[in-house]
Amino acid sequence: MGISHHQVIVIGSGLAGLRAALEAKKNGLEVAVLSRVQPTRSHSIAAQGGINASLGNASEDSAESHAFDTVKGSDYLADQDAVEIMTNEAPGIVYEMEHWGCPFSRTAEGKIAQRPFGGAAFPRTCYASDITGHALLHTMYERSVKEEIKVYEEYLLLSIVKNDSACVGLIALNIKNGKIAAMSADTVIMATGGYGRIYGNSTNAIINTGSGMAAVYMTAGVPLKDLEFVQFHPTTLYGTNILMTEGARGEGGYLYNNKGERFVKELAPRDIVARSIQTEINEGRGFDNAYVHLDLRHLGRQKIIERLPGIRDICLHFLGLDPIDKPIPIQPGQHYSMGGVDTDPNGSTPLPGLYAAGECACVSVHGGNRLGGNSLLDTIVFGKRSGHFASDYVKSKKNSDTSSVLQAELEKVKAKVAKLENSTGKETAAEIRNELKATMAEEAGVFRNKEKLTKGLAKVRKLKARYKQIHLMHKGKKFNLDLVRNLELEGKLELAEVIVLGALNREESRGSHFRTDFPGRNDEQWLKHTMASYSPDGPKLDYKPVTITKFKPQARTY
Ligand code: FUM
Repeated sequence: MGISHHQVIVIGSGLAGLRAALEAKKNGLEVAVLSRVQPTRSHSIAAQGGINASLGNASEDSAESHAFDTVKGSDYLADQDAVEIMTNEAPGIVYEMEHWGCPFSRTAEGKIAQRPFGGAAFPRTCYASDITGHALLHTMYERSVKEEIKVYEEYLLLSIVKNDSACVGLIALNIKNGKIAAMSADTVIMATGGYGRIYGNSTNAIINTGSGMAAVYMTAGVPLKDLEFVQFHPTTLYGTNILMTEGARGEGGYLYNNKGERFVKELAPRDIVARSIQTEINEGRGFDNAYVHLDLRHLGRQKIIERLPGIRDICLHFLGLDPIDKPIPIQPGQHYSMGGVDTDPNGSTPLPGLYAAGECACVSVHGGNRLGGNSLLDTIVFGKRSGHFASDYVKSKKNSDTSSVLQAELEKVKAKVAKLENSTGKETAAEIRNELKATMAEEAGVFRNKEKLTKGLAKVRKLKARYKQIHLMHKGKKFNLDLVRNLELEGKLELAEVIVLGALNREESRGSHFRTDFPGRNDEQWLKHTMASYSPDGPKLDYKPVTITKFKPQARTY
């Protein structure tokens, strides 16, 4: 079979990917999207509480105030030029989605409704009850259908292919029939989301394995930035870690410990609230030593049904509990990756022709801690921008014959997969995966220290060694999810090592990265981004400066 070619290949069909594809198409380019799932099963669908933009519909507001809150929320690690771009473009992005048909909730005057979210000076989070990601993704998908964007569904990216100077395509597994194919592209845009499933206690979908991020790290020679910054959402449903939106506290929900005390400002940023909850649990003021209560009862039946129907449904289905009558048991859980593939505000990575946007990328607009409502915004703003700048790249690019480099990488990847298929090693992916998830939750969680991280790093490295001995449980070609999970596990282990090593090296506390042995922020030594480059012997760490424009770092109090 010959090598197929597209001018633009977008990998990932969530909000960032589809927005990038639409922009490239608008710029007159021929585009294809390659996705691990059918687009409306992408993880953007799971976002609940909303998307931030300073529309000023609920009170006064400004893009500058949004930028300041974002930078302060990031514990001053965000690059401020990128933050300003995002907050300036936010209102236009939200109105565009409205004009494309997104059914936002409304104020009494018919304007887009906005609710308070953590760390924001004003009610700035635009929402569609508590299914905002669902509303946005379906709107975006309908638009992509209207624009006849071609989607290759059920493909797993295995490798980014580059020649001496640029990205020239990719190698992917067609999960439907087990065939491995090379695809040539003038530009590739990564939009593959996060790696949440490295952790045992994640809000993320099972597709969030970080496979795209790992493929870029391992095969494109592009560094990962700030991967030690892992967001733990304060309120995930006890026992399942399903998201209980921050919108619940935005609508006035309270947090209670077992003494009946409200122990934290409910609308502080996520890193602060997650640590407070974990402290209550660790110090014996939780329930069953495992959770605290999110109480919505005082909001009343009508408000819960109108504004928070999605989380009510989840509570009913998973715990048989109605938040109209009973408090919700919640605990912190892994939710989001502030770090990712190193990009600039145009989505460009250091490899010409390779772009990245959304959670898999680190621009960086979230720094050490992302504010709720800024991730949906990030996906659309930087999806659109990467589509735009990737199009410019294609238009100015000289064509060259890349078939031999693609063919060589195809043979290499096929040989690697064949070796896995024929392995008789004694290990299984399931066991290694479960040990990895437990290790990350235990040793690289809300509270970290040298002892835990050193132990975590040793465990991850042992798991990496054991991975070399895995064998497949199933050998079939069609929809062989055992093969998919085995392949993804290699990347998960690599990303885990980058997270733990970065966290061990960063001897300070900033945003979500809290070291009990270094409890203060240390701008003198650590106001810098961690850059991790792949080597077969483990990540090589380097650092680069943070861009500061208007907002000088100051103490972060709320
Ligand atoms: O709590 C939430 O609804 C999540 C929002 C977000 O991660 O931005």
